[in-house]
Amino acid sequence: MPFPIHRPRRLRSSELLRGMVRETRLAPADFVYPLFVCPGEGVKREIEAMPGNYQMSVDQIVEECREVASLGIPAVILFGLPESKDPEGSGAYAGDGIVQRAIRAIKREVKDLLVIADCCLCEYTSHGHCGHVDGQDVDNDATLELLGKTALAQATAGADIIAPSDMMDGRIGAIRETLDDKGLKNIPILAYAAKYASAFYGPFREAAESAPQFGDRRGYQMDPANQREAMREIELDIEEGADMIMVKPAMPYLDVIYRAKQEFDLPVAAYQVSGEYSMIMAAGRNGWIDLERVMAESLISIKRAGADLILTYFAKTMARKL
Ligand code: PBG
Repeated sequence: MPFPIHRPRRLRSSELLRGMVRETRLAPADFVYPLFVCPGEGVKREIEAMPGNYQMSVDQIVEECREVASLGIPAVILFGLPESKDPEGSGAYAGDGIVQRAIRAIKREVKDLLVIADCCLCEYTSHGHCGHVDGQDVDNDATLELLGKTALAQATAGADIIAPSDMMDGRIGAIRETLDDKGLKNIPILAYAAKYASAFYGPFREAAESAPQFGDRRGYQMDPANQREAMREIELDIEEGADMIMVKPAMPYLDVIYRAKQEFDLPVAAYQVSGEYSMIMAAGRNGWIDLERVMAESLISIKRAGADLILTYFAKTMARKL
């Protein structure tokens, strides 16, 4: 006879009491803020489908990073828009590539901020795919060498963490080996281990100008229907040397985050992607939802599911509220 002995409402009667028994809390230290770096100087172009986010030149990115650090956010993740693209994505691994220039400037100018380099080719290839294209297909093994070169260029420029997001088989091992060969054995790898072929990346592809010119990414990114396969992907990445694992997108895949946290000991990151952000922003701006509350609720649900780290375009706004 639980009721009337038990009344869960007793612990909900005031904010002080609710706060005392709260199981999950957000902190600025949970967040990673994604940034898009482009050529030029003094450039700060708002991304239409992602209000409040910009393509920024290196000088602007540095200013942005000072603000991010001052809010207590420990890390940014960088995406690059190169001057020009080619089939092999050479801008990704050029010593003076756009992301490498940004990394050097941030590491020189901003204290107390980690720079994570997204390691992928799609922003740099003329065809927009995440690797070496052979006919209509992305050649897995030929891509590994390009990814190794990209990781090496990023780490040499001063990146603190390398985050491969391409979903080629064997890339974590290939990158680990390349880095270790060059004495960069202490650079951690944050593997986008369970990355789904998701329509929620739509706005990002405008932001990073990285939409595939033919076909789609379903030949390498995961089928949204699969959860067990995600565990297999994570397991393989850990065997190959991943230091942290990521599930992406976040809110439509909370079951995957939850299970990853239960099954593996490594830190789990979740990426609240562009489409998740844009939907909340759009509905909020229309007055259809309470933007601030939905933002906070979306982030707490991702953390409650098991994420230790959240990559989110809301990082600055949320950090200011905490
Ligand atoms: C690069 C990459 C993508 C995202 C992060 N890294 C795009 C894609 O795979 O098409 C998406 C991030 C977002 O939507 O916010 N491969």
